Amino acid sequence: MDVKTQIDLLRRKIEDHNYHYYVLNDPIISDSEYDLLLRDLEHLESENPDLITPESPSQRIGAAPVTEFGTITHTLPMLSLANAMTSDELIAFDGRVHKGLENNADPDYIAEPKLDGLGVELIYRSGIFTAGSTRGDGTTGENITHNLRTIRSIPLKLRDKEIRIPDILEVRGEVYMDKLGFQKLNEERESRNESVFANPRNAAAGSLRQLDTSVTAARPLGIFCYEAGLIEGITFETHTEFLSALKSWGLPVNPLIKAVIGADQIVAYHQLMEAQRDELSYEIDGTVFKLNRIEDRIRLGERSRSPRWAIAGKFKAKQATSIVTDIEVQVGRTGALTPVARLEPVPVSGVIVTNATLHNQDEIDRKDIRIGDMVLIERAGDVIPKIVKVILEKRPVKTIPYRLPDSCPVCGHAVFRPEGEAVARCQNLSCPAQIKGRIEHFVSKGAMNIDGLGTKLTSQLVESGLIDTVDKIFQLTLDDIAGLDRMAEKSATNIMEAINNSKTAMFSRFVFALGIRNVGEHISRVLEQHYKDDLNRFINASREELEALEEIGPIAADAIIRFWQDESNRSIVNACLKNGVIISSAASIEKSGLLAGKSFVFTGSLQQLTRKKASEMVVRLGARASSSVSKNTDYLVAGTGAGSKKQRAEELQITILSEDDFLKLVEGG
Ligand code: IVH
Repeated sequence: MDVKTQIDLLRRKIEDHNYHYYVLNDPIISDSEYDLLLRDLEHLESENPDLITPESPSQRIGAAPVTEFGTITHTLPMLSLANAMTSDELIAFDGRVHKGLENNADPDYIAEPKLDGLGVELIYRSGIFTAGSTRGDGTTGENITHNLRTIRSIPLKLRDKEIRIPDILEVRGEVYMDKLGFQKLNEERESRNESVFANPRNAAAGSLRQLDTSVTAARPLGIFCYEAGLIEGITFETHTEFLSALKSWGLPVNPLIKAVIGADQIVAYHQLMEAQRDELSYEIDGTVFKLNRIEDRIRLGERSRSPRWAIAGKFKAKQATSIVTDIEVQVGRTGALTPVARLEPVPVSGVIVTNATLHNQDEIDRKDIRIGDMVLIERAGDVIPKIVKVILEKRPVKTIPYRLPDSCPVCGHAVFRPEGEAVARCQNLSCPAQIKGRIEHFVSKGAMNIDGLGTKLTSQLVESGLIDTVDKIFQLTLDDIAGLDRMAEKSATNIMEAINNSKTAMFSRFVFALGIRNVGEHISRVLEQHYKDDLNRFINASREELEALEEIGPIAADAIIRFWQDESNRSIVNACLKNGVIISSAASIEKSGLLAGKSFVFTGSLQQLTRKKASEMVVRLGARASSSVSKNTDYLVAGTGAGSKKQRAEELQITILSEDDFLKLVEGG
């Protein structure tokens, strides 16, 4: 037998054992026998390196660590699931489905455990694992292909036995760390004096976020696959068929998945899983019920972020008791005073809980929570723990009812609680807690995404008086930043570049960044869909106009109207625009455009255009306008009198355009 055949045979044997082990859950050789096969393969490959292929089972660990993760845009968005908190809500879901399908027969469902790990997408092209990503915001996730390759239950090559392999298979699943592996990992970390992970999900997430794949490879991670993304080359009539195909291809599918019919079986499955929860080797935080027939799914369709054809049944949260040692008051970026209970540390479903939010005075009054009380606390998923009730029998003598302070704990200014509102707010718009908070929100990742402008720097900038409103960020100079305490020249340059890059902002990000109450990322995107890049039309929108938009309710509409009624908010936005911020929208950007992703710098004086107009033109074509030349610059547009920037562009061999060249490029191109 020649070496190539020998290698092929070994690979197939190993892949077959993987299938028995990870999919059938029924290994037919011992771990040490398996290790021997793998070692033989590695040995043969090391002697015949030209025969190594990327999908060989020996090639799981990447060569050099990477420096950062790229992103992957999901071909189809990764939706999330609506939650049912009680059996009644599960029954109501079945009722809605019935009604939606206009069908008297009970529809078939597939019931699945809801794994408490990290949602990922795997992409196979012609059966070869080519890319994998996190769920991210549902549209775009991090490219974690190299780390996913190290997970031994993820086949690098699909099994081609019973069912034809599709040309493209995008499959979604959950990466998890089992409870035992998690415990062992934490024990090892503790013995090395390293910080421990709070729960298996965090440990799995942390493991996938390693830049060095050999670290990920050493972590006990597994996967269960449960949904389809884009599939080309094969279609399915039911979810059952899809799941069997996954198994035949060698992808692990949870063995507890079951077909159920009718509300009674739904509730019974949910209760059974909840009862078994602690015995499972991995964490689950609920159940998922999905319509089995794909045709039925299509009929019901989707809401904006979750399908109508599926629901997650959440388990009851886990509870524990502790003592309230203190109540502290935090001031948020909108001035809201939030009381937080400090607790004696206590473990709740694997996490040490040290505090719980108390929301507001009403909530404290309702539950009559006092310092010194013994309380029942509850942790629901990743939500901040909350106090369910005070255990009155254990109340110490001499406690007093708790009252929020009348003055702001940060600036001392008076606190005001509007009629009918639960939240008390510090009225001082220049309260340091609010200024810093607003700016931190404005520059954060989901908002303007100004890298390098972190909490510490924001504090410095506010305290030194350089910024008191967000528009001042765009007036900062290199000298301003470089002049701060402990600021290196290089970092200052990077921050300036990040600020400049952020000036070409999407409508939705900019609106989200403003921190209008009740206008989160999602609503901001809804607004962008309607207003495109027309900020003015949004600013002057009437209440009726806003409420007519799908998904904008009276509360958000009201918050928007009140926000723009405030003259200072309008002037801050105008100042941003005056200082170079350019608003664009997904619709106004021709994504496929010639200039998509390119970076332009304008220098010298332009004759036919203002610099602002020129910047707007490139942004509309999907490019960026930046003010400083770097190796990332694609084009320098040099007007008359161009000086040092042009020189720098020449040094970096960047394409230099005259104003006429530029106009030809943007108009003709
Ligand atoms: S299906 C369109 N099935 O729960 C439905 N999700 O809130 C897509 N999850 O992001 C999800 N176990 O990370 C589905 N058996 C299961 C699941 C599951 C856990 C996670 C998943 C998703 C989140 C949905």
